[in-house]
Amino acid sequence: MRRKRLCLAGSRYRAVDKYLYHMRLSEETLQEVSQRFRKEMEKGLGADTNPTASVKMLPTFVRSTPDGTENGDFLALDLGGTNFRVLRVRVSDNGLQKVEMENQIYAIPEELMRGSGVQLFDHIAECLANFMDKLNIKDEKLPLGFTFSFPCRQTKLDESILVTWTKGFKCSGVEGKDVVSMLRRSIKKRGDFDIDIVAVVNDTVGTMMTCGYDDHNCEIGLIVGTGTNACYMEEMRHIDLVEGDEGRMCINMEWGAFGDDGVLNDIRTEFDREIDMGSLNPGKQLFEKMISGMYMGELVRLILVKMTKEGLLFNGRLSSDLLTTGHFETRYVSAIEKEKEGLQKAHEILTKLGLEPSHEDCMATHRICQIVSTRSANLCGATLAAVLRRIKENKGLDRLRSTVGVDGTVYKKHPHFARRLHKTVRKLLPDCDIRFARSEDGSGKGAAMVTAVAYRLAAQHKA
Ligand code: GLC
Repeated sequence: MRRKRLCLAGSRYRAVDKYLYHMRLSEETLQEVSQRFRKEMEKGLGADTNPTASVKMLPTFVRSTPDGTENGDFLALDLGGTNFRVLRVRVSDNGLQKVEMENQIYAIPEELMRGSGVQLFDHIAECLANFMDKLNIKDEKLPLGFTFSFPCRQTKLDESILVTWTKGFKCSGVEGKDVVSMLRRSIKKRGDFDIDIVAVVNDTVGTMMTCGYDDHNCEIGLIVGTGTNACYMEEMRHIDLVEGDEGRMCINMEWGAFGDDGVLNDIRTEFDREIDMGSLNPGKQLFEKMISGMYMGELVRLILVKMTKEGLLFNGRLSSDLLTTGHFETRYVSAIEKEKEGLQKAHEILTKLGLEPSHEDCMATHRICQIVSTRSANLCGATLAAVLRRIKENKGLDRLRSTVGVDGTVYKKHPHFARRLHKTVRKLLPDCDIRFARSEDGSGKGAAMVTAVAYRLAAQHKA
């Protein structure tokens, strides 16, 4: 009996493998993706090619990572990930590098994510006021770093023009505007506190900076969470869009937009196209839609629906929950892929969705999750390998030693994602020694770190 079950399950696995053949990418395809991404990076960096490049390679005006001598009290805002947070970060340089923080999560209701920009910034200012009240610091004018995790054009640290909303946001009247001015206006309108907005940073940059505080080799920041993106330190002489040839500057690549010009069409599947068509931003962030947490569960759901309609799962019987957008959450993928209790979880989740799963249905669902999340890790590995290869060439080294600072719910919460990503990078780049450092609270703390570095540099300048 057990044997028969295993055999049946095995054949289910094979059936899913065959069904999702296009989602299982070979090493050769991944090398190809890596090379294509390398070309896109160059296109984004060049002055003539940047306007039409899909990977925007945005200069961040962050030029140095922390050196450990930063100190002071800072406020930080973190908008664009799973939660909106306000933080106070205390950085001290008392020999033992120390960073302490308090933070508070505030909800951003969906109506606000898709309402007017002014309402959104008024709400942010209100949360900030509430936090300062609680800490009893409303009469202090503290420096603030703003982690704003969307593509922005910057010409200096404290000016940041939103190129386009991504992920779940779509507020009117913000694209093409400076988000610092909008926030200042909302704060001024209240009149109950004052603040010194020093820097706007992307979450990738915040993550790199936080890890850079402990590991001076950290020159890449990676996020695999609601969205996906990475930043890295590029040589100034290669950044056409910014004057000057000395030193390095951090580039926010916005790699989620890789493929928006069609270069990934041969590897995108019908499910990727369906996700895109039903999204808030059709035709945009196509790479992100194959990878990040906002879409992973939904990809699995679309596959389950199609296979059921074809009679391959659940005896061909659908449920209204399974047919509802968003009802197969990304955290289910993580639960189902857990080593020991995964199959049990699959049974619980599918039952909760109104289905009557057999053991084989649970096995098949497990395999679908595995294929979707593995493709995600592999694709991230391919682009990351391209970035590392570029850094290696920039430095003219035979062997690169480097650290990647990483954050994001998919990277941290999925039971196998991190391991698979590391493996892909090491396979594609055998001549590098890469360390992956999980950043603790990177995006929030990082904004405070950028602010702290800016303060230190300004003080040195004055001295
Ligand atoms: C989206 C945003 C990007 C951010 C990433 C991770 O891709 O456009 O700025 O870094 O999500 O949060």
